[in-house]
Amino acid sequence: MKVDVILGLQWGDEGKGKIVDVLTPKYDVIARFQGGPNAGHTLEFNNIKHVLHTIPSGIFRENQVNIIGNGVVIDPIIFKKEIDALKKINVDISTQLFISKKAHLIMPSHRILDAASEASKGKTKIGSTLKGIGPAYMDKTGRNGLRVGDAVNEGFKEKYDALLQKHVTILEQYDFEYNLAEFEKGWLEGIEVLKSFEIVDSEHFINKLLKEGKTVLAEGAQGTLLDIDFGSYPYVTSSNTICAGACTGLGVSPNRIGEVFGIFKAYCTRVGSGPFPTELHCTTGEELRAKGNEFGATTGRPRRCGWLDLPALNYSIMLNGVTQLIMMKADVLSGFEKIKVATAYKLNTGEVISDFPYDIELVTDVVYDELPGWTEEELKGVDSKEKMPKNLKDYIRYIEEKTGVSITYLSLGPNRDQTVILK
Ligand code: GDP
Ligand code: IMO
Ligand code: MG
Repeated sequence: MKVDVILGLQWGDEGKGKIVDVLTPKYDVIARFQGGPNAGHTLEFNNIKHVLHTIPSGIFRENQVNIIGNGVVIDPIIFKKEIDALKKINVDISTQLFISKKAHLIMPSHRILDAASEASKGKTKIGSTLKGIGPAYMDKTGRNGLRVGDAVNEGFKEKYDALLQKHVTILEQYDFEYNLAEFEKGWLEGIEVLKSFEIVDSEHFINKLLKEGKTVLAEGAQGTLLDIDFGSYPYVTSSNTICAGACTGLGVSPNRIGEVFGIFKAYCTRVGSGPFPTELHCTTGEELRAKGNEFGATTGRPRRCGWLDLPALNYSIMLNGVTQLIMMKADVLSGFEKIKVATAYKLNTGEVISDFPYDIELVTDVVYDELPGWTEEELKGVDSKEKMPKNLKDYIRYIEEKTGVSITYLSLGPNRDQTVILK
């Protein structure tokens, strides 16, 4: 069988959690392949709103296997909090969740290093979620990291202490006060919770399931424009968020990849620092933020808002080999008389380009198309393609024409049920 992949095409928070939950009944296995607790994936159903950070968004459906793959970085403190929150609503995932031995652990000192690094950058800070993601991936690629498999083996404490010592030495270079003790007890408790789950050789586990004919949905975190190689570097995260990351983050070969669902908002948001060509600094931006409730699911920070950006969207579609598009939050655009869509960038040299450039900070102006909007009244009770207002149908057709990819699902609200299957 194939692995279908669902991933964000913008700067994260596209609505991946909601759609993974919607698609889960079609799959036997849901697997996270990169990122860590910098992610905040929101699901809403039966009047419950739930935010997941490390745990795959398939967890609320029964019978599915959920895997945290080798490409993910796990903070045991946050993991334990997630498990406790699920227990509170009587969701027991002890038999459903499998964790890769090769996933790396985020230590309390990684979080401190993240904070110290950001503080030292001043104005040029990345706007990190401060979850220790960058330092943990640095230790992974630097071949110093601590893995989940280490936690179940002898000598774990010695390995932990040795790495902590390295971190303490690095921290001496920063003028940064910290208190490690406040985290360490909770971290060790979290390790015990982690160890109570099935710790597996996830690459063998997932390939065996595929051989048995099981269907797999790989759940991306962050978005393509935050990819470590192709995003708006250095204002990115520290993992490969693109489709290729599903292969390295799960141990599945590229020829196993099936459908690639590319998910995007009908407009655009970004949280944290970095260039954002279509950002709106006016009341329209504020209106989008208020109507879309655009506040970070992990940090609560207000998200920057702007119009849909086609050069960026087409770049993301190219990098991921997107086979189907999923458009989210079209309800948020209702009530706007005119909707703008970026079609090209003007650079400081005067050149007009429609490709995503090496340095998007050189974009000085944006070329827009303008399309007519739809009203809230027209969107009421829309649960099928046929009932959609004409201008929304036209907006969808316009994006399909400009990208060459079909939009197969449309989301009109945060709830599981507020989803229209278009094709
Ligand atoms: P993720 O990180 O990609 O899973 O997205 P987040 O959960 O961080 O952010 C998406 C936000 O939009 C959440 O608050 C969702 O509940 C909400 N949401 C998802 N789809 C829709 C939609 O179609 N309309 C509206 N209004 N909200 C949505
Ligand atoms: P989900 O999965 C939106 C952003 C941060 C910052 C940059 C680096 O919910 O879509 P990091 O903590 O990784 O060092 O931060 O990336 N960022 C996200 N923005 N959604 C996310 O995840 C994000 N994860 C990281 O705001 O700009
Ligand atoms: Mg999010």
